[in-house]
Amino acid sequence: MSVPPSSFKIIAVDGGAAVGKSSTSKALAERLGLMHVDTGAHYRTLTAALLKEAIEPEQPNLQARLASMVLETELKGRSARLSVNGEVPAESAIRSPEVNAAVSKFAAISAVRKALFKYQRGQADVARQNDFAGLVMEGRDIGSIIFPDADYRFFLVADEATRSARRAKEGQIDSIADRDKLDKARKNAPLICPEGATKVDTGPRSLKEVTELVLELIESH
Ligand code: DC
Repeated sequence: MSVPPSSFKIIAVDGGAAVGKSSTSKALAERLGLMHVDTGAHYRTLTAALLKEAIEPEQPNLQARLASMVLETELKGRSARLSVNGEVPAESAIRSPEVNAAVSKFAAISAVRKALFKYQRGQADVARQNDFAGLVMEGRDIGSIIFPDADYRFFLVADEATRSARRAKEGQIDSIADRDKLDKARKNAPLICPEGATKVDTGPRSLKEVTELVLELIESH
């Protein structure tokens, strides 16, 4: 049974590192029958592939290397994952300390963002073709650049102590404040609260409370 085009919903979830975008987006996908896309994982996947070839962010052949990569989508349940040249890297490979340290540098380069723009917009078609009721996409520029036409846009925030504690609990070595600084300062698609987005503070709330709040906001929209 296919989803009528008028009821297909796109939800954009943006925010800095470790503010709870992934947990919230996955919970929304479950509750609303949506396909979930983590665009941070896209940048991480490209970064891991480039690091493997020992390519530096400023290297002149970066664009040519990106152009040679075949970007496709693999669905695992509700989660759509980017494959590069037929391979979806393991989570541990895209969340390594090396990738954590390099990803914001690659993500600031316009050739890298251009390589992903069409692919990310195309995820709405993947969701439609697979009969999802819509798409929830998380990242830094989803409500501003990728889907400025999204039906709902949320910007998650949390205090730094909570965010660091969340990363530590995941056992990750990640300088989230440094990454945020780079992500906010860059010229290309900087991390900003998109106009018209609703800010949600996840610091003092549990995942359940954040999910219920966002669902209420969607319902009352
Ligand atoms: O969500 P994350 O922490 O896994 O994202 C990793 C990096 O990818 C983040 O520091 C900046 C970049 N990114 C981006 O520039 N634009 C997005 N839409 C998503 C992530």
